[in-house]
Amino acid sequence: MPTTPLFCADGARRERASQLAERYALPLVRQRPESGYWLELGFERLALVTTGKHGAVFAEFVDGAARHRREQGGGRGQPVAKAIGLKGHQGTMRIVDATAGLGRDAFVLASLGCDVTLVERSPVAAALLDDGLARAAVSLDTMDIAARMTLVHADAIRWLEAQAAETQPDVVYVDPMFPETGKSAAAKKDMQAFQHVIGDDLDSSALLSAALRCARQRVVVKRPRLGAVIEGWTPSAQMEGKSTRFDIYSIKALISAGKLLAPDAR
Ligand SMILES: C[S@@+](CC[C@H](N)C(=O)[O-])C[C@H]1O[C@@H](n2cnc3c(N)ncnc32)[C@H](O)[C@@H]1O
Repeated sequence: MPTTPLFCADGARRERASQLAERYALPLVRQRPESGYWLELGFERLALVTTGKHGAVFAEFVDGAARHRREQGGGRGQPVAKAIGLKGHQGTMRIVDATAGLGRDAFVLASLGCDVTLVERSPVAAALLDDGLARAAVSLDTMDIAARMTLVHADAIRWLEAQAAETQPDVVYVDPMFPETGKSAAAKKDMQAFQHVIGDDLDSSALLSAALRCARQRVVVKRPRLGAVIEGWTPSAQMEGKSTRFDIYSIKALISAGKLLAPDAR
């Protein structure tokens, strides 16, 4: 994938632009690019933009759909809460979102009271998340939720493999990008832009294996409703929504079947 440049459109934000460029190894450019995709830091936010037909893509936790989700989201009854097993869980659930993207799923989980570590390997997505979280941290409506979200810029496969027993999460959540399938992908313009700058995630099977060796209770994989399961492992259960499916891999069931070691023996 070509490197995505960062352009600062607001003189007052140059310092923040330099910080983001350094943190995520993004080339900081002095002039707005004339083609392709680039990150643009303005007065309000950081966005992935292009001269083409796609609109700006940014991480948003305060307004728009995030506000709607916060206020009308359906709480612990919503499918993702059921898929991660929030209902029967005692205490604060620790979740690793191994494919954080724009942080929408992680935000829902943090809104439900979970502590979420967002792991993202793409410097573009990580910079967008960094900006979205910084804005959420200073809004009265979202600061408590943002305080439960921790961003890690890393490849989740290596990061999960490096976790010690005491930092292993209850649940690892996985939502990789798969090759474009036409209809469903066209509906998600921001994911199309992501597809351009990030590409498909071709190592989902290795990511699932690393997730299964790290999670204490379960791994949840989000898929299009009719999408294939990730190769190599069979889900213990599946939950279908209108357009999405959650494949649930129970650690207990895999240990009983002799396919995984117990968390404390890993
Ligand atoms: C479909 S998007 C996730 C969208 C996200 N669930 C949301 O709610 O916004 C997939 C993201 O996972 C990231 N990703 C895929 N494999 C990864 C890995 N091994 N480590 C870290 N990030 C990964 C990609 O860079 C991409 O940003």
